[in-house]
Amino acid sequence: MSATFQAPKGVPEYLPPASAEFLAVRRAQTRPAELAGYGYVELPVFEDTALYARGVGESTDVVSKEMYTFEDRGGRSLSLRPEGTAGVMRSVIEHNLHRGQLPVKIWYAGPFFRAERPQKGRYRQLQQVGVEAIGSDDPRLDAEVITMADQGFRACGLTRYQLLLTSLGCATCRPPYRQLLQQFLDGLDLDDATRQRAALNPLRVLDDKRDSVQAQLVDAPLMADHLCTACVEHYERVRHFLRVAGVSWDEAPRMVRGLDYYTRTTFEFVHPLLGAQSAIGGGGRYDGLMSSLGGPELSGIGYGLGTDRTLLAREAEGLAPLASPAVSVFVVPLGPGTGDMAVEVLGRLRAAGVACTSSFGARGLKGAMKAADRSGARWAVIIGEDELAGGTLQVKDLADGTQASMTPDEMVDSIAAQSGDRKKEGTH
Ligand code: HAM
Repeated sequence: MSATFQAPKGVPEYLPPASAEFLAVRRAQTRPAELAGYGYVELPVFEDTALYARGVGESTDVVSKEMYTFEDRGGRSLSLRPEGTAGVMRSVIEHNLHRGQLPVKIWYAGPFFRAERPQKGRYRQLQQVGVEAIGSDDPRLDAEVITMADQGFRACGLTRYQLLLTSLGCATCRPPYRQLLQQFLDGLDLDDATRQRAALNPLRVLDDKRDSVQAQLVDAPLMADHLCTACVEHYERVRHFLRVAGVSWDEAPRMVRGLDYYTRTTFEFVHPLLGAQSAIGGGGRYDGLMSSLGGPELSGIGYGLGTDRTLLAREAEGLAPLASPAVSVFVVPLGPGTGDMAVEVLGRLRAAGVACTSSFGARGLKGAMKAADRSGARWAVIIGEDELAGGTLQVKDLADGTQASMTPDEMVDSIAAQSGDRKKEGTH
C-alpha cells in the first residue's frame, strides 16, 4: 500500500456539512459590499514579489518573513498573495479603472497565504472578504466602509466583537511624529533587533508583545496626540458619520497594523473570545499607496474580514447555524419500476428551484427513510410501485410526521410553494 497524503500544515479545509457555514459566512460578508454598489474583481492568486515588497512594506513580518515566494520558469520572482490591497491597486492602475467614476469601489474574496506559525485561528492559507474604495478622501466614505464591515459581522450573528479605531496621520504629520517616537525609543533599554526595528519602522515597536518592552512604552508619544489640523478634522468627521450610522467604537491610539500602507483612519475588529488571534477583520486608509505603485495620487480605504476567524467567533458565541439544510426534499423510489418516476420528479423539482436528492441503489424503506432524516430535508417523497400504478406518490412532512397522497403535479406545486429554496437562489 502506498503512503497517503495530508493537506499542508496550517491549511484549514471546510468539508460538508461545515462548509455550508463557510459559504454562508462569506455570503453574509459580501452582501454589504453588493448593497453599497461595490463591483467584484477576481484577482490573481500570485503577483510580482516586488509589488508586495513595495506595496505592503519590506519592514512588515508579512513581507519579510511570511511570503511564499518562488521563481517561475522564466526566472521571475513571484509570491502567493499575502493580502489583497496591493493587487487591487495594481489592477486598478493597469486597467485604468481610476479614469472612470470615482471612487472606484471593488470587492474580492478568497484565499491569501502567509507562512505563519500555525495555531488555532492562524493559518497559512487564510480566507478574507475585502473591499477597496479608491479615489476619494471624503470622511463619509471612511464611515461607509467601516459600517459595511460592521454589517458583515452583524449579519453573521456576531454581537460580542469590538471595533477599535484610530488615526495614523498623513504625510504631513507622520514624519515629525516618527522622529519624536524614534527619539523616545533611543532613550530606552532595548535589544539590538528591536533597535533595528525602531530605526526602520518605530511604530512597529509599539506593538511589541513583551512585558519588559511594554513597561517602557507607557509614556511613549502617540500619533493621535500629534495629528495635523487636517487629520484632526478628518478624523472628527469620520467619527461624526459613524455616530450618525449608529456604529460604536473604542479609541485605540496604540493600535499597530501589520501592514505599512495605512494613513489616517485605521481600524480593527477584535473578538474577546478568540484568545491570541483576536482580530476578525481590519483595514484603513492608504492615501500614498497608489502613487507608490506608479499610479496617480489617489487616496483609498478598505478592509479585509477574516472568514476563518469569523467562523471561530461564531462558534465561540455558540450561534445557531446560518446555513439551511442542503436539500428540501429526499426522494425515495421503492422497487425496480420506480426509477423512471424518481428521475422525473427530481428533474421537475429542480426545475422549479427546489433542492432535492434521493436514495441510490436498492435500499429498503427503513434505510432510505433514515437517510432522508439525516439529509436534513423537510419532505420525503416516497414512490411505491402500487401507488405509482394509480398515478400518485406519498409526501411525508419530516418535521411533523404527517403524510399525504398526491399526484406528481400536486407534489411539485405544493413543495415549490413552501420550500423557500427559490429565495436562496444565487446566494453563493
Ligand atoms: P490584515 O489585518 O492583515 O489586513 O488581515 C485582515 C484579516 O484577515 C485579519 O483581521 C484576520 O481576521 C485575517 N487573517 C490575517 N492573517 C490570518 C491568518 N494567518 N490566519 C487566519 N486569519 C488571518 C489585510 O490583509 C488588509 N489587506 C486589509 C485591508 C484592505 N486594508 C485596507 N484594505
